[in-house]
Amino acid sequence: MTGKRTATSDLWWKNAVIYCLDVQTFFDTNGDGCGDLVGLTERIDYLAGLGVTCLWLMPCYPSPERDDGYDISDFFTVDEKLGTLGDFAEMLRTAQDRGMRVIIDLVVNHTSHQHRWFRSARKGRDAPFHDYYVWQDEKPEASEQLVFPGEEVSNWAWDEDAGQWYFHRFYSEQPDLNTANPAVRDEIAKIGGFWLALGVTGYRIDAVPFLLEEAAGPESEHKDPHNLLRELSRYLSRRRGDAVLLGEVNLPYEQATEFFGTNGDELNMMFNFPLNQAMYLALARKDVAPIVKALKSMPEIPAECQWANFVRNHDELSLDKLSDSERAEVFEAFGPEEDMQLYGRGLRRRLPSMMDGDQARIRLVYSLMFSLPGTPTLFYGEEIGMVENLEIEGRLACRTPMQWTAGTHAGFSSAPDGARLCRPLPEDQSVNVTDQRRDPDSLLNWMERVIRRRKECPELGWGTVTVLTDKGAALVHRCDWDGATVVAAHNLGDKPAKITLPKDDGWTVLEDLLGTQDAKPGEQITLEPYGYRWLRPRS
Ligand code: NOJ
Repeated sequence: MTGKRTATSDLWWKNAVIYCLDVQTFFDTNGDGCGDLVGLTERIDYLAGLGVTCLWLMPCYPSPERDDGYDISDFFTVDEKLGTLGDFAEMLRTAQDRGMRVIIDLVVNHTSHQHRWFRSARKGRDAPFHDYYVWQDEKPEASEQLVFPGEEVSNWAWDEDAGQWYFHRFYSEQPDLNTANPAVRDEIAKIGGFWLALGVTGYRIDAVPFLLEEAAGPESEHKDPHNLLRELSRYLSRRRGDAVLLGEVNLPYEQATEFFGTNGDELNMMFNFPLNQAMYLALARKDVAPIVKALKSMPEIPAECQWANFVRNHDELSLDKLSDSERAEVFEAFGPEEDMQLYGRGLRRRLPSMMDGDQARIRLVYSLMFSLPGTPTLFYGEEIGMVENLEIEGRLACRTPMQWTAGTHAGFSSAPDGARLCRPLPEDQSVNVTDQRRDPDSLLNWMERVIRRRKECPELGWGTVTVLTDKGAALVHRCDWDGATVVAAHNLGDKPAKITLPKDDGWTVLEDLLGTQDAKPGEQITLEPYGYRWLRPRS
C-alpha cells in the first residue's frame, strides 16, 4: 500500500501522544509508599481519557537504585517493589484494551555492578562474562567527558578483585557493557525479544551514542558500530511489525540524524534535544529566532522516522548544546539560583516553576511544543502543572509522586498519614487531578482538549514545516501534508503581537482549532501576550 492516509496507521509513532512515567511514583495501591504496577493498571483509564496513545515506562527492572533504576541487575523481570511479572502483563493487557501502546526503557549501555554478569566478570580475566565488560590494565588517562561531574571523577574505576580498571560512562556502579562482543549483542537481542513477547511495542533506548561507542572500540571487529542498531532494528521488527525504537541521542542535528540510518533502518524516533534547547533560549529572550534557526537547520529525515518533541523529561533540562553565554541567559531567566542548576549544564525545575506559575505562559509553551513538527511527549504530572521539590537531591527533584487529590500523600499512596513515601512530595500539593477535573478551565482539561486536537492534526506529525516569521516575539509556522494545512501562531512575548496570517489559492477561512475566533486568509491579527492560535484553512 502506498496511500498516504493508509500508511498513517502503520507508522503509528508519526502521530502519537507519548506519556512517560515511573511506576514507582505513579500510584501506590498496597500502602507501602511506593507506586506499583497494579496502581498503574488502575490509572490506565485516566491516561486513555487524557488522550495518551503510547506509554513510556521508565525502568521497572530490579535495581540497587544508584541511578533511579537505570542501573539494572536483572533484565528479565520487574522489581518486586513494583509487583510481579504477572502484574506487568495485566497492565499491558489493560493498556492494549484501551488502545494504548507501551514502550519501556532498554538500558543496555551498562548494567548494575550487582548484575550477575558483572559479579562473575570481576572475579578475574578468565572468569565467565569477563569480556562482557570493558577492562584495562594500565591506569587510564584522566577522563574528558564526565556525565556526572562533581559526582564522578573518572570514567574508569579500579576493581580490586579483577586487578583491572573497568569503564563506566555513568556512575561507577554502572559498568559499561562491551557491545563489540557478539555474545553481548546476543544478550541484547534476547532482552529485546523477551519484552516484545510479553506485549510491549518497542523501546526507548538509553544513551544511544554511548552504546555504540564500545561497538566501535579499539578491540571491535565490527567495522561499523551502527550495525548494532541496524541488526537490532531488523530483528525486533521481524518479531513485531509495529515495534518502535525511540532513541536518546543528545547530539547536534548533523550527528544525530546518522542514528536514523539509511532509509530509517536504525532508530525510528529520536528526542529532539536541539529544538528543545532552542525553545528555552527563545522563551528566555522572548524572541523566536533560536526556534526558527533550529527549525530551518532540521535536516530532512527518512519519511518513516520521527522526532519526539518535549517540554521536560525526567532528567535535568539539559542546555548543554547552547553556548556558555546562551546557557547563562536561560539560567538567569528560569533557574538563577545555584540549587536550581545541575552539572553546570541544566536545570532541575519543572516548567510551571520556571514560568513563575503563569498559566498563560505555561499553556503557550505546551501549545508550541504540541504544534512543532514531530510527536509530542509528556512527562507525568505535566498535564496538571506539577512542580519539583528542590529539597530532593539532583535529578530526582522532578520525579516526585503523582498528585491525584488534595488529601493525604496527595492521593498517591494509601500509606498511613505520616508514613514515609518512596520520595517526598513538593510542599505545595494544591495542584492535583481531582480538583482540576472539576474545573473546566484547569490545565488538565485544557491539555485534554489540546491533545484531542493534536491527534486530529496529522499535518503536524507528518507534514512539511514552513516558518513564516523569523524574528520578534511571534512565531508563525505552517505544516502541510496530503493537501491539508495547519497554521500555528505563538506569541512568546508579554506584550500583544501583530501577525499577518498566510493566504493561499482557494482558502476562504482559517478555522480556529483551539478557540472560536476564525480568521481570514491574509488577515492581520493581534495575539494577546503569550497568546497562541492553531488554524486550519478551509476552502
Ligand atoms: C539516560 C537517562 O535518561 C538517565 O536518567 C540515566 O542516568 C542515564 N541514561 C544512564 O542510564
